[in-house]
Amino acid sequence: MNLRFTEEQEMMRKMVRDFAEAEIAPFVEKMEEDGEFPRGILKKMAELGLMGITIPEEYGGAGMDFTSYIIAINELSKVSATVGVILSVHTSVGTNPILYFGTEEQKKKYVTKLASGEYLGAFCLTEPSSGSDAGSLKTRAVLKDDHYILNGSKVFITNGGEADTYIVYASTNPELGTKGISAFIVEKDTPGFIIGKDEHKMGLHGSRTVQLTFEEAKVPVENLLGAEGEGFKNAMSNLDVGRIGIAAQSLGIAEAALEAAVAYAKERAQFGKPIAAQQGVGFKLADMATAVEAAKLLVYRAANLRSKGFPCGKEASIAKLFASKTAMEVATEAVQIFGGYGYTKDYPVERFFRDAKVCEIYEGTSEIQRLVISKHLLK
Ligand code: CAA
Repeated sequence: MNLRFTEEQEMMRKMVRDFAEAEIAPFVEKMEEDGEFPRGILKKMAELGLMGITIPEEYGGAGMDFTSYIIAINELSKVSATVGVILSVHTSVGTNPILYFGTEEQKKKYVTKLASGEYLGAFCLTEPSSGSDAGSLKTRAVLKDDHYILNGSKVFITNGGEADTYIVYASTNPELGTKGISAFIVEKDTPGFIIGKDEHKMGLHGSRTVQLTFEEAKVPVENLLGAEGEGFKNAMSNLDVGRIGIAAQSLGIAEAALEAAVAYAKERAQFGKPIAAQQGVGFKLADMATAVEAAKLLVYRAANLRSKGFPCGKEASIAKLFASKTAMEVATEAVQIFGGYGYTKDYPVERFFRDAKVCEIYEGTSEIQRLVISKHLLK
């Protein structure tokens, strides 16, 4: 595997890093405090082409490779994991399903707007009683004349309430189990589509997470995405790729936590010398750096496979499992190195700690990643 980034990818890294430091960093504290959705930041990201990095130019995107997209998520998440997840969900599970499985009309109607940032995308699979067991979802879609009538509810919908289009999974034939699940593109102002309660989360303040309800929601028949019954497989193959985005988000959090811990350990003196010079702290930093480097290799290996069009489901799950665990461990150690100060909101490490936790939960818990990896090993 060639681990060197191309000139184009390095340019992407520098552009996103500069943007995040100049345009996102000044607002991070405010987003944390008031939980305001970063509309202004997303608008600027759209102007830079970041809302459709991998979308082909013919559909209004930047037409860049997958690794460039992962670099962007990685760099954004170092400054704000909130902005990282908004872009990851918008792209990998909010836009790509239409690009991969949509008709030409659907791509022209929706992908162009999603890629330009005029629209924001969301993905609706999880329900109150079906999280890890996604195939047991209960939302129903019944064809009636030229509409599907949707009834049911969804939970933990990232970008919910802010998004313009929602990829919604519902059963068109419950007797067939996962083979009866179909996907739909639901527009935000669809009659019977109700945005519900906002979740008050431990972290990722600024990213919106809501409950959704469908009460006789009328979705035009032309908004069926892919064939009836193919929704589950399509969702799974999308998540294969989406998980690399969450792995990159995790990596960004871990890198930021390590950087903060190194800087603080050099500056904070106890017992007459910087705490970095105490072996207990120096060894912690060494272990943190080792884990971060290993996570980086796994994230970019999965991205590289995807960029070259190779299957990457196992590698994506391995990258997400390891990078999210690394984010949690490195953020925990960073708080420890900061001591009492790390437990306050005066320093960013408590935010990294809170933001890291969800990376082990969403887009498939760590336990689900292990299940996916072991299925690959045993097949
Ligand atoms: N690609 C293509 N097809 C796949 C697939 C994949 N990766 N994984 C499974 N399938 C197919 C199978 O081949 C099978 O079809 P056949 O019978 O024709 O072979 C069908 O789907 C059913 O597969 P399984 O029997 O393996 O399915 P399962 O019910 O046992 O579930 C699971 C598998 C991996 C546990 C799955 O339910 C899963 O991934 N659960 C986690 C859900 C999840 O990640 N949710 C995230 C929500 S989105 C989110 O979090 C976004 C956010 O806000 C950040």
